[in-house]
Amino acid sequence: MRFLPRLFANNRAWAADRTAKDPAFFERLCAIQRPEYLWIGCADSRVPANEIVGLAPGEMFVHRNVANIVRVDDRNCLSVLQYGIDTLGISQVIVCGHYQCGGVQTAFGPHTHQPLEGWIEQIRALRHAHAAELDRLSDDAERWHRLCELNVGAQVRTLNGLPIVVEARGRGQVVHIHGWMYDLRDGLLRDLEVSED
Ligand code: CO
Repeated sequence: MRFLPRLFANNRAWAADRTAKDPAFFERLCAIQRPEYLWIGCADSRVPANEIVGLAPGEMFVHRNVANIVRVDDRNCLSVLQYGIDTLGISQVIVCGHYQCGGVQTAFGPHTHQPLEGWIEQIRALRHAHAAELDRLSDDAERWHRLCELNVGAQVRTLNGLPIVVEARGRGQVVHIHGWMYDLRDGLLRDLEVSED
């Protein structure tokens, strides 16, 4: 292996370990994909979706981007959502933000280069919309953390208004949308209790 041999070695060990523990594991995964959950999270390397909720391959459909944003003009995210809800029949959608999110932090700083600046513009707008609340907080770390939470709430609201979700509910399909925060400091999740169904 010329490039990144450690990753290939890790992969062989992982596949062998899976098969040793459960000989039919890969066979089963090939046969069907029926995850119960859709995770929309940050691309941050410290927030590995499956791992922090203890789910195996096949159990969670995952979409990650910078700062866990759901944009109505993002075909990538919306295609994941459409496939997840319409084809896979997923009923539990989780938007998971995290504290110390670099994408959210960017919204506090000077304008950065494209395309990142355009991507996080809605977080900047959210910061301005909540300026009074954020200004009352005692320091920059608290403002950063609060904006991470507000960002998750905004994505949950966006999801609830999307035609994919509205139409699925109109057909009688159950679609719960949850807003969670992951804390890098202790590895624990917290439900922001902004769920709607
Ligand atoms: Co992040």
